[in-house]
Amino acid sequence: MKVEKNQIDFENLPTHIAIIMDGNGRWAQKHNKTRTEGHEAGSKTLENLTKEMDTLGIQYVTVYAFSTENWKRPKAEVDFLMGLLRQYLKRHIRQAKRDNIKIRIIGDRSMLAKDIQKQITVLEEITENKTGLGLQIALNYGGRDEIIRSMQKIGEDLLHKKVMVEEINESLFEKYLDTALIPDPDLLIRTSGEIRLSNFLLWQLAYTELYFCEKYWPDFSMNDLYQAIYHFQQRKRRFGAL
Ligand code: FPP
Repeated sequence: MKVEKNQIDFENLPTHIAIIMDGNGRWAQKHNKTRTEGHEAGSKTLENLTKEMDTLGIQYVTVYAFSTENWKRPKAEVDFLMGLLRQYLKRHIRQAKRDNIKIRIIGDRSMLAKDIQKQITVLEEITENKTGLGLQIALNYGGRDEIIRSMQKIGEDLLHKKVMVEEINESLFEKYLDTALIPDPDLLIRTSGEIRLSNFLLWQLAYTELYFCEKYWPDFSMNDLYQAIYHFQQRKRRFGAL
C-alpha cells in the first residue's frame, strides 16, 4: 500500500519519531556494492528524510547512528563511519545559518575522537536556538549504558546532597537521561525487517508505537515515512492514548 502525503492527518502528527536505521550492509550486498557504499547511501537517506520531517512539522527525531556495540565491527568499517560522521558534522556546521534544525548528540561522546567531540560542541551550540526539527543523533549510544551513566550522575548528586533518596522518582530520573527535556518517542521505526530494539532508548520507548518495515534503510523513501505515520495515526485512533 502506497501512502501519499495528503493521506496524513497533519493535526495528529507524532511529536517524536525514533528511527533504527538498519540494513545498510544488506542493501549494499543486494546491489553488489561495498558495505561502505551502503553506509554512504544510508547517510543520504538520513539527510533527505530529516529535511522532509522538518517540512512536515515533526518536532523531534532521534536516530541510531552508532551503537556501543558497533565498535566491534572491522576497524575499516568503524573508521569509515567516523569519516562519514566528520563529513556530516562539517556539512551541518557550514549550512547551519540557512537550516532551522537543532542538532543534539546523545550517547557517551567521551569515547569519540577529540576532533569529533569538538565539532559536536560547535554544532550543538550554533543550532541551540533553532526552532525547527530537533534532531538527536545517537552516537556510541546504548540504552543500558545511558541508564547506568544516569545512575552514576544521581549517585554523585546523592553524595553531594544535591538530591535526597526520597526525591528519586520517574520524573527526576528522566532529567538525568541524555534525552532530558525531550518527550518520549510516539513512534519507533525500524527498517530491514529485524524486530528488536537492540538497546535503543530502552527507558524512553516504554509506551511507544512500534513500526517495523521490510525495506533496507537506504531504500526507505518519503512514501515509507508517510506510511509509518499513517499507520501510527490509525493505531492511535483504535487505542486512544494508551
Ligand atoms: C545499520 O546497518 C546501520 C549502521 C550501523 C550505521 C547507521 C549510519 C548511517 C545511516 C549513516 C551515517 C550517519 C551519520 C549521522 C553520519 P548495518 O550496517 O547494520 O546493516 P546490515 O545489518 O544489513 O549489515
